[in-house]
Parts: sequence; C-alpha cells; structure tokens
Amino acid sequence: MRQRIIKVTELPEDTSFNSVFEITSNNVNYYTHGFFKYPCKFIPHIPRWAIKKYSKEGDVVLDPFCGSGTTLLEAVTLNRIAAGIDFDPLSRLISRTKTYKYTKKDIRDIEKIREKISKGKLELYKEFVPDFSNISHWFPPQSIRGLSFIKSVILNNSNEKSRVRDFLMLCLASTVRKCSFADDTSPKPYVSKRIKKSPLNPSAVFIKILDNYLNELKDNQGLVKNKCFIIGGNAKKINRSRIKNYTRQNVSLAVTSPPYINAFDYVRSLRLENIWLGHIQEKEIPAYKERQFGTEAIPVRVYNKEAPSHFSVKLDMALKEIYKKDGKRAFVVSRFFNDMQENIKQVYSLLKNGGHYVIVVGNSQIRDVDIPTSDVIIDIAKKENFRLVNLFSYRIKNRYLRIPRKGRGGLIKEDWVIALEK
Ligand SMILES: C[S@@+](CC[C@H](N)C(=O)[O-])C[C@H]1O[C@@H](n2cnc3c(N)ncnc32)[C@H](O)[C@@H]1O
Repeated sequence: MRQRIIKVTELPEDTSFNSVFEITSNNVNYYTHGFFKYPCKFIPHIPRWAIKKYSKEGDVVLDPFCGSGTTLLEAVTLNRIAAGIDFDPLSRLISRTKTYKYTKKDIRDIEKIREKISKGKLELYKEFVPDFSNISHWFPPQSIRGLSFIKSVILNNSNEKSRVRDFLMLCLASTVRKCSFADDTSPKPYVSKRIKKSPLNPSAVFIKILDNYLNELKDNQGLVKNKCFIIGGNAKKINRSRIKNYTRQNVSLAVTSPPYINAFDYVRSLRLENIWLGHIQEKEIPAYKERQFGTEAIPVRVYNKEAPSHFSVKLDMALKEIYKKDGKRAFVVSRFFNDMQENIKQVYSLLKNGGHYVIVVGNSQIRDVDIPTSDVIIDIAKKENFRLVNLFSYRIKNRYLRIPRKGRGGLIKEDWVIALEK
C-alpha cells in the first residue's frame, strides 16, 4: 500500500508513528542559517520540531555531530543553552560564527577591516599562503595573491578567538571555492577537465559575501537568546566533563544527523577551506579521515576477514550480502554501526532521566544491498536502554540539503526521524 504523504510547511507537534511528511517550505536560510554553503545539512524544521517538543527554555540541547550548527542556531534562538561537538574545525568555526551574540562594536570592527580589504592593493603575502603540494592545480596566481592578502589583513587586525576574527574567517572560507578552479556545483572539490572554470576575484567575492552576512546580523539583532558552546573531539568518545562543566545541568535533548555511511567525505569536501584557513595541513589529512564516522579509510588487514556479527539480525544479513561482493564495504558499514553504538551510549549518559535523543538518518544502499539504517539504529538504541517514542519520515524538496545515497536502485528520498527517550 502506498503511504499517504502529508504536505506541511512546519512539522506538527503531534506526529503519529510512521507518518510521511513533505516539508514544502523554502525558508531554510534565514538569519545565519545561510552562512557558508555547507553540504548535507538538515533543514532547520527538524531540530526546531524536536526542540519545541522535547525541551523548554533554559534547557540544554546537544548536537554531537553539529556540522554547520543548524540545531545549535535553532536552540539559541529558542532560548535553550546549546552544546555542539564536531571533529572538523571548519564545521566548528561555522557553528560558532552562526550562534554568536554580536555587539554593535563587533559590527563596527568588522566594517573597519572590510574597508582595509576593499581599499587595499592585492599583494602576495607569502607567509599566509598555505603549504599544499599542488596549489597551482586548484588556484591561479591571482587568487593565491588575493586570498593571502585577505587572510593577512584579517589576522593582523583582529584578535585571536574573537567573534570578529571568526566572522571574517568564515567569509574567507566562503570565498575560497569561488576563486579556485574547482567545480562550484559539486560539494566535492574537483577540477573538471571538460569545463574550464574562470576563478573569480577574491576581494570582490569576499566583500560581497561579507556584506550579505553583515546585513543579516544588522537586521536580526537580538535573535540569539542564549549561549552556545562548541568542542572538538570524537562523537564516540565525548569529553563529558567539558560539556558538564559548561552546562552545569544534564542535557534535556540531543538532536543530530550523523554522517551517512559511505556517502559523504567531509574531510575531502572541506579540505581546501580548512587548509587555507590554517586549520589543518595537507599531510594530516589521511589520519584525520580515519576518525570520520562512516569512513572508507580502513586498512586491508582489518577488512580482509568476514565482518563481525552484530546483535541486529537485519544488519547481519545485509553485511553477509555485502561481504560477498566487497569485503571493505562490509567493514565500512559494520564499523559505522559500532561507532554509532558508542555514540548512543555516551549521549545516554549525558541525558537527564526522561531526556530525549532525536536521530535523523536515511536508509542507504551499499553494493545494491539495502541497509535499513533506521531499524538498526533503533535496535542499538533499545539495547542501550532507550525507549522508542516517535518515528516518522520526511521528504525534502531542496536537493542540496539531501544527502546523495544513490544506489543503483535510484536516489533515496526519505530521511527518518527517530525519537528516543531515556
Ligand atoms: C550530516 S553532518 C551534520 C550536519 C548538521 N546536521 C547540519 O545541519 O549542518 C555530520 C557531521 O558529522 C561530523 N563528524 C564525522 N565524524 C565525526 C566524529 N568522529 N566525531 C564528531 N563529528 C564527526 C562531520 O564533520 C559532519 O559535520
């Protein structure tokens, strides 16, 4: 029987089990939600629904894979204390910049630095050019000159760890790709041999982005009502004492969309920006990739034997099928669920009794085998003593927001919202 799809602009507070929604609203980029074109973020409607349903003002809302901070921004505008974790430094910069309470002085300071950049002469600041082996493959000389000039003005005129510096560095991150030879439409950076791209002028792009972002801050003063705290580290090994020291109370709600198995390599996608901003060096990338959930960076000695058995019958069946075709992929999937189990365990211990964990996942297809991700996550969560209290799916109109999980059976259109209670 075909499921009835319920079209809504906002998710209703009461959703019945297994409903399918289509969210028709295009209003996904208001205030700072539109800062940086972040791949595979979720629409604000989902965390907003969870925050309103499962927490109240003053409560703590955590996102252990905070990405570009969609949950965190919704939390602080709804007057909740927000806490975020992400292993990627650019994601943390985006999340911080989007959730700060900016003062009038911050805005004046940003405008002063804007003037210096718009009036300055493009010069090569060698010490600000990142050290990567094939830089000329990605950037023409005039972009290297322009980007290094902007970076030098920012670093010489703002304080380290200040809101002003973070804001300007995020404008720089948003500028990088447009001034490179890398294709603008794909989230994964690559230089197309077929279509030659003309990189844009860094100062002009930077100023345009800065003006757009600054207008959002000026028009929406007072929207951020509570504080936000973001840390690095691994979502399967959360530094719980740091979170507790900051929040001073247990977490009422965690909301997240973990990375999708085998579908999206954040380290690769964000590396040009991370390297330009000085967050990581090129040589650190392989080790950094290994820490990523759903990573393909698994050594042969590990995957050259049958994938271990789990507690979920559905998962074990799928793993056996995948292993017959591709031993490595079977291990990628197996490891993803082991890591998720660790994460679920840790979030459980941070939650207060009666607190909730809302996890948004999509089922995927690996080597033509269906992976029932939502069912397996529910099995894991039950094993870790959570109770399933709500489950529904939604379709998204905006393709950029949807994660490409294309198996040969076609694009998977739904994401599942799993609501768990401690
Ligand atoms: C699907 S994205 C989250 C997007 C987010 N919901 C948003 O709206 O921007 C998943 C995030 O998990 C992060 N991540 C991957 N592996 C991680 C790990 N081991 N620990 C913490 N974060 C990790 C990635 O950097 C990425 O930002």
